[in-house]
Amino acid sequence: MKAAKIALIGGDGIGPEVVREGKLLLELLREERNLPIELWELDLGAERYLRDGTTFPPEVRVAIQRECAAVLLGALGDPRVPGMEHARDIIFGMRQGYDLFANVRPCRALSDRLVPLKGRAARDVDFVVFRENTEGIYVGMGGQFKRGTPDEVAINEDVNTRKGVERIIRAAFEYARAHGHDTVHMADKSNAMRHAHELWLRVFDQVSREYAPGIKGKHVYVDALCLYLIQDPSQFRVIVTNNLFGDIVTDLGAALQGGLGMAASANVHGSERGRVAMFEPVHGSAPDIAGKGVANPFACLLTVGLLLAHLGYPEEERIIEAAVARAIDGQQCTRDVGGALGTQAAAAWVREEIRRTFRALRLGHGRERLAPRCAPLSDSERCWSPRRWRPPRPRRPRKNRSPSPSPPR
Ligand SMILES: NC(=O)c1ccc[n+]([C@@H]2O[C@H](COP(=O)([O-])OP(=O)(O)OC[C@H]3O[C@@H](n4cnc5c(N)ncnc54)[C@H](O)[C@@H]3O)[C@@H](O)[C@H]2O)c1
Repeated sequence: MKAAKIALIGGDGIGPEVVREGKLLLELLREERNLPIELWELDLGAERYLRDGTTFPPEVRVAIQRECAAVLLGALGDPRVPGMEHARDIIFGMRQGYDLFANVRPCRALSDRLVPLKGRAARDVDFVVFRENTEGIYVGMGGQFKRGTPDEVAINEDVNTRKGVERIIRAAFEYARAHGHDTVHMADKSNAMRHAHELWLRVFDQVSREYAPGIKGKHVYVDALCLYLIQDPSQFRVIVTNNLFGDIVTDLGAALQGGLGMAASANVHGSERGRVAMFEPVHGSAPDIAGKGVANPFACLLTVGLLLAHLGYPEEERIIEAAVARAIDGQQCTRDVGGALGTQAAAAWVREEIRRTFRALRLGHGRERLAPRCAPLSDSERCWSPRRWRPPRPRRPRKNRSPSPSPPR
């Protein structure tokens, strides 16, 4: 079997520190499970940009697209590059360049003690956000006029296309169907952004009808969503929203699961085989703690889990998640999640725990080690694998559609 090539980009700040641990985890799994994977380390980020002006060379962009199954990215953003030129080229070069339209961010608490809400437990925090990843306010359209004068004007355009809106909404419904969820919430601000978000509302309504009655589409204004996520996060399973709101809401989601050090994400283009996908922890480069050896590596390790599930190894994802959950329970973790270990020691504990799991499995017991104790979910719910979706193909609107069409085939 041809090895799946995985590009590793540490990037800036704590990015290289956590990607180093992600790489060691991938090497361990390759060895223990004979995974056919090949790792390719790339020197990209602020250091490289400041050294020779390189951001994301076209030949690298094309090589990743042609040769790689996945990219693991740490984080980008460095105070020495205030214009973020390198970060924009690399992140948008992949998200938009490879048309990775779905930014999928699972918000799942792995331990009761990580949930900051009074009277709530880990079982109450288990939802996935589908963030549109290629449009919205992030396209960089706009400009400044009369800059630096008292009359200056600054404009950023919010771009929403029918195709872009429909495919992310469809992806959320496909995911809900594949994982047996009965509700998809769509968050917008259509009461204020009457043109752009009326499109979201209309498309959501149309797509929801196709998935009814099995899956219910519920509309929520994004401000109310923030309120409800704090009051009762257990009512949410799948949330779909635009690029900007998804960025913000998933930081709130990260807070519910224990902080940015616990939040993983995937950037995918549906479930097509042979198409490169990009995986990154939700956190940024955290310049305030960079180089101190205290960054939480678990977001990156959980991101490796998403990556492996995407490549067709969902059991490996469960093994990683269960080991991280046990590290949290046993306080074998960094200080942001209540432990006292450094980045390397926390990640090494998880690797050792995974080795223990494999030893137990080889001896014919230890299946119980695969499941996080805090999340009594079925296998299909627990493992996140976009391969399980059917590709969300855009459908042509049918003429004379009845008000409540039959469920999709
Ligand atoms: N996708 C990305 O690469 C990405 C995402 C967000 C922000 N950024 C960039 O990162 C830089 C810093 O941004 P920011 O400070 O707003 O966000 P940030 O996520 O880097 O940090 C926010 C806070 O969370 C803490 N934190 C983040 N990750 C942590 C971890 N793994 N362990 C422990 N604590 C952690 C930080 O110390 C900081 O206090 C900026 O340049 C920003 O543009 C990049």
